Amino acid sequence: MKLGVCYYPEHWPEETWQSDAKRMKDLGLTWVRIGEFAWSRLEPEPGQYTFDWLDRAVDTLYEAGLQVVLGTPTETPPKWLIDKYDDILQRDEGGCVRKFGSRRHYCFNSKSYREETARIVSLLAERYGAHEAIQAWQTDNEYGCHDTIRCYCTNCERDFRVWLEKRYGDIGALNEAWWNVFWSMEYRSFDEIELPNLTVTEANPSHHLDFYRFSSDSAVAYNKLQCDTIRQHSSRPITHNAMGFFGSLDYHKLAKDLDILTWDSYPLGNLEISFLPEDLKTRYMRTGHPDLTSFPHDLFYGAKRKPFWVMEQQPGQVNWAPSNPLPAPGMTRLWPHQAFAHGADVVAYFRWRAARGAQELMHAGLNFHDGTPDTASDAAKRVEGELINDIGEVDAPVALLFDFENHWATNLQPHAQGWNYMALQFAYYTALRSLGVEVSIVHPSEDLSAFKVVFAPALHLVDETLAEHLTSYVTGGGHLVIGPRSGAKTSTNTAQAPAPGPLGELMGVRIDHIDALRPGTTGEVELSGEAYAYHTWADLLTPTSAEVMASYRTDAYTGTPAVTRQEVEAGRCTVLGMWGDVALHRALFAPILGAAELALIPLPDGVRIARRGPRGYLMNFNPHTVTLGDELAQLTGQGEIASCDVLFFER
Ligand code: GAL
Repeated sequence: MKLGVCYYPEHWPEETWQSDAKRMKDLGLTWVRIGEFAWSRLEPEPGQYTFDWLDRAVDTLYEAGLQVVLGTPTETPPKWLIDKYDDILQRDEGGCVRKFGSRRHYCFNSKSYREETARIVSLLAERYGAHEAIQAWQTDNEYGCHDTIRCYCTNCERDFRVWLEKRYGDIGALNEAWWNVFWSMEYRSFDEIELPNLTVTEANPSHHLDFYRFSSDSAVAYNKLQCDTIRQHSSRPITHNAMGFFGSLDYHKLAKDLDILTWDSYPLGNLEISFLPEDLKTRYMRTGHPDLTSFPHDLFYGAKRKPFWVMEQQPGQVNWAPSNPLPAPGMTRLWPHQAFAHGADVVAYFRWRAARGAQELMHAGLNFHDGTPDTASDAAKRVEGELINDIGEVDAPVALLFDFENHWATNLQPHAQGWNYMALQFAYYTALRSLGVEVSIVHPSEDLSAFKVVFAPALHLVDETLAEHLTSYVTGGGHLVIGPRSGAKTSTNTAQAPAPGPLGELMGVRIDHIDALRPGTTGEVELSGEAYAYHTWADLLTPTSAEVMASYRTDAYTGTPAVTRQEVEAGRCTVLGMWGDVALHRALFAPILGAAELALIPLPDGVRIARRGPRGYLMNFNPHTVTLGDELAQLTGQGEIASCDVLFFER
């Protein structure tokens, strides 16, 4: 476990670098990330290189005993480069050019930009690839930030056609897979296919889904170009910094080309722009919602089944949310501990010193604009003293299946106004975390044998291979809990007939009708004599071989099965038709987890537990002290936990 910081030596006079480096070291920091926006200072004119300052910055950090993550500067191509070519800038969905003057102003499918990328990355990798200071690389910066995965320019149209031809082989197969007979949308050749923007009403969802796949693949291919280039000159690990709850890039695919996954954790900013309701945003405005912060931790751990890093940790106030509250005292200490507890090996604060100008001048750092320490500096020092080394891995007994393609497909046809794939995933996750169990978030195709229970909300796109994989998990003794909207579509986003398609045997039900509820309305489920509420979505289950566990009590379909279960060889499959509220999810999940012999610790509101290797963490995200019940008091040896505090305990 190590701490780090993001640093921009090019922003500050060279005379300050040495004392900055010394102070970083004195705070107990190990890693410093630099360089990711510095292109205009590395090559101010085409072919005129000024790497000397970077040499000196790297040497200064190294001499102070710090290790460097060197970022490639490709997020921000300089103005001369943009002006030199006419195919680099992106076009938005409305067809307008997205101009120079901020960042991420390039198209992943621009041939010129790919060449320029290979050139600058290769120069950097050659020069620093074996430098002892450079212990890791970061490619670019936050692919997709500012909504830049999907571009609607002519490069993208050209490459989309090629991508489709590779996938379908001939145009007849594509027409069939997309069901283009509908509304006479049939094409005679791949060259006739356009991007799915600017259509009169919604474009064909199959066309759209493939465009989303293609766009994500384009970013993955662009990243691979960077990784391959770096690897020609350097054996250091390569990462890219992802974003939490960002949906347009398939991070499971991106992960394959990276050695380490990292993400940028801004608990307050992310809360403000999240799908959570206003009352929760207000309640957690200074601490962040604990589960909203840890969900990406568990997702990025699960994506490689190994420790990840937080490359950017919120250090105080941010500038980019609609409202930017100050964090509660204690949070800049608690957030890194939360990340370590969920499997981070490194947490780097963003940024060393607040920027004096430009877009982020109202964003805090470990130091104020004048270079004197802000409060997060003290927090960093304290965290450093509390870290332990070689803590080991996270061994979650429960998995949540998450797939970006299901996010795209369901959100393309939400059908219910309140539908949001991420929010449904979060609803399952928060119910599980509130019961005190460890959860890993993994792709459905992962080896699931290590998990006692696997939850799969909205496992929407299903083919035979996936159905077989899940069936073998269950027949091997696992318990699969399948949530609403599962098995509804084929992998090309057409209807299964009947639903749930190849999952029918495993689930033991057929789904002929679904209910899409209006926002603010609820239905009722009767479970063990008690009434519980659900909202947004209900699959009406017709058992074919499964047993009914609970039924709906909602006007239009009272008495229809809502929850079913069946034993399948050594395991079982439970089907939940509806999107339950918190109470319903907890009431359903607790006995399922109990039957798998998992020890539950129902937690007080705003308190969370996490365990890693020998260490347990109890964390309080409330702005007040919480008195601990017997079980937690015994576990931690404490009667209470102070606001924004963490208690460590031995497992
Ligand atoms: C991240 C980004 C950083 C900085 C930061 C501000 O999204 O990678 O460069 O903009 O947000 O919070």
